[in-house]
Amino acid sequence: MPTDPTVHIRRAVGADADALTALTQRSRAYEGRYRAILEGYAITAAQVARDACHAAFDEDGGLLGYYSLVHDRVAGDAELDLLFVDDAAQGRGVGALLFAHMRKTARALGAHRVRIVSHPPAEPFYLRMGAVRVGEQPPRGRVAWARPLLELVP
Ligand SMILES: CC(C)(COP(=O)(O)OP(=O)(O)OC[C@H]1O[C@@H](n2cnc3c(N)ncnc32)[C@H](O)[C@@H]1OP(=O)(O)O)[C@@H](O)C(=O)NCCC(=O)NCCS
Repeated sequence: MPTDPTVHIRRAVGADADALTALTQRSRAYEGRYRAILEGYAITAAQVARDACHAAFDEDGGLLGYYSLVHDRVAGDAELDLLFVDDAAQGRGVGALLFAHMRKTARALGAHRVRIVSHPPAEPFYLRMGAVRVGEQPPRGRVAWARPLLELVP
């Protein structure tokens, strides 16, 4: 599992919701035609409390990124609902740290499988992390583009 002593990952709390929303909304990966998926989207305190949401911080307490995992106890699997690294913090291993932490969380929850509907430009990252492409999610509603569907055995 990758480590970095300058990055601290902890369970997110309701008070983090606005900062998580702001990081998400300013993501350059969702500019242009991809913007539609984030329009009006906000992470709520209830969502943070309900889902397995964890955030990464630097040594000064600055938010670097976060993930949110939705666990389906009945089905015994999970879905990676959100994974974002702040634009300024990308490319230095924070995504890999969050992904490894998510994997550990999924195992602890007893999920046999993690489903990932990937933002198209993020697919190479997920493949690098060991997820496997299993199909494609067709366009739906305001999401007018197909999205890679991947799975991970945690
Ligand atoms: C995708 C994302 C989470 C990756 O986070 P990151 O911190 O930049 O990634 P890391 O620096 O930890 O990279 C880990 C590895 O993946 C590779 N990688 C990361 N993004 C990649 C990309 N777009 N294409 C190819 N490889 C990529 C890195 O080169 C690195 O490989 P290495 O182990 O051989 O050095 C981040 O770019 C992001 O938040 N993007 C915008 C939001 C988004 O699209 N999230 C996914 C929603 S489904």
